[in-house]
Amino acid sequence: MVDITVRDEAITSYAGPALVIAVPAGDAALNDAACEVDSQLDGLISTLRAAGDIKGKLGETTVLHTLGKLPTARVIVVGAGDPAKLTAAGVRRMAANAARVARRAGLASFATTIYRHEDLPAATDAQLLVEGTLLGLYRFDDYRKSDPEAGDVRELIVLPRALDRAAVEEGVRRGREIGAGVTLARDLINEPPNVLTPAELARRAQAMAAEHNITCEVFDRDRMRELGMNAILSVAAGSDEPPAFIILRYSPAGFRDGAPGLCLVGKGITFDSGGISIKPAQDMHRMKGDMGGAAAVIGALRALAGLGVAGPVTAIVPTTENLLGGRAMTPGDIVKAMNGVSIEIINTDAEGRLVLADALSYAVREGFAPLVDVATLTGAANVALGPFYTAVFASDDGTAASVLDAANTAGEKMWRMPLDDAFEELIKSDAADIKNSAVRSGGAVTAAMFLRHFVGDKPWAHLDIAPTSWSDKDEGEQTKGGSGAAVRTLVALAEAMAAR
Ligand code: BES
Ligand code: MN
Ligand code: ZN
Repeated sequence: MVDITVRDEAITSYAGPALVIAVPAGDAALNDAACEVDSQLDGLISTLRAAGDIKGKLGETTVLHTLGKLPTARVIVVGAGDPAKLTAAGVRRMAANAARVARRAGLASFATTIYRHEDLPAATDAQLLVEGTLLGLYRFDDYRKSDPEAGDVRELIVLPRALDRAAVEEGVRRGREIGAGVTLARDLINEPPNVLTPAELARRAQAMAAEHNITCEVFDRDRMRELGMNAILSVAAGSDEPPAFIILRYSPAGFRDGAPGLCLVGKGITFDSGGISIKPAQDMHRMKGDMGGAAAVIGALRALAGLGVAGPVTAIVPTTENLLGGRAMTPGDIVKAMNGVSIEIINTDAEGRLVLADALSYAVREGFAPLVDVATLTGAANVALGPFYTAVFASDDGTAASVLDAANTAGEKMWRMPLDDAFEELIKSDAADIKNSAVRSGGAVTAAMFLRHFVGDKPWAHLDIAPTSWSDKDEGEQTKGGSGAAVRTLVALAEAMAAR
């Protein structure tokens, strides 16, 4: 990962390969750093702005050579857009684009000024800068011979200049921890399914826990059978790879004997073929990412522990493959989940809700509250919201508000969808208590309604990240492949809860 250092150095003495400054759109005033660069370059920035060659559009980049007028060889100008409209997401995007330009230019190191505009404290700006840089530079190339782009950026130098250095350091630290959590989630999603089996996912969770003051417990098939987790076991029945039930406990000193607290549950299907109700071949390889919920909760715990959040958080990951075979579950099967609810399997491709049924039942039995599950659960959530929003369902307005507030703080787009008894008849079964698949319409809602049968009366939210867990392009802090969606929101939620 990129090494980040905060350095008390003036623009006029920084002698590295490139310095990043932010320039707003239109004729909005330049910030101090941009002013200083402009005057050292004899008004070059002002001239380019006046000529319309630097428009300052959000995230737009221009590389200038300093021709010896400054010790740095280059200035990378990144557009800040309308300063009155600059958001946290905008700062992340600026940082990501600037970092990618530096990488494309083959620079191993570059320096950046804080983009800060009036509304944003220096620490927040520094955090966003680091998040954007780390996430924008992310790539997954463990399995390739050579890099498609020139070398790697190894070092980012942050110049706080007149700003409070301690605040900037704190922001950098937060950005680094959150960036590491999202990076871990992306790595897990991007790993191929022949490598990231349920057992390997458990090993990675264990390895992360060992480094971060987190305990990790893994239940095997026998233990799951003893606990009556028949729903996840029926999904696992078609696979030769054994399933696992992973429990990660983060409990900072002083909270060991308190209430169990927040529980994050992540869907961990390491490959979803659909089972006997097999999926079409087109894009099926993407279903290696059907453990995006698991990746999100594991990544969030990694970040929480790194940040030292002051409250207990537990993550539960029910993980298995969903394959076909002589022992695979078949449509028409009836299984009893851990909480005693019987389920008729109508479609073996609606497997996510089955593994979550047992995991949520377990979390209820252990007394956790609130419960937040994260899952790449339905294609219908995509149909409803398009690729930019995570669908949020919640048992009550208070829980919905805390999740949406956290998403807002974290800069992740989420939208609340309804849970309504009117949908109940759609998941009624002729043969069991409920069935696992309903009509096409309202598919994201009926999936959430199904899950509601396993959360008792606990405050609960369900995040359907099927729309957001995978990105088709490199754009701002997003990179092609696993996105790490929901990690930042879960961190913000846990922090808000710990602060209450
Ligand atoms: N993992 C899929 C949902 C999914 C689809 C995630 C596309 C990401 C991108 C899930 O297990 C599934 O197959 N859902 C079915 C449910 C249906 C059979 C009721 C779906 O969405 O079609
Ligand atoms: Mn499926
Ligand atoms: Zn699935």
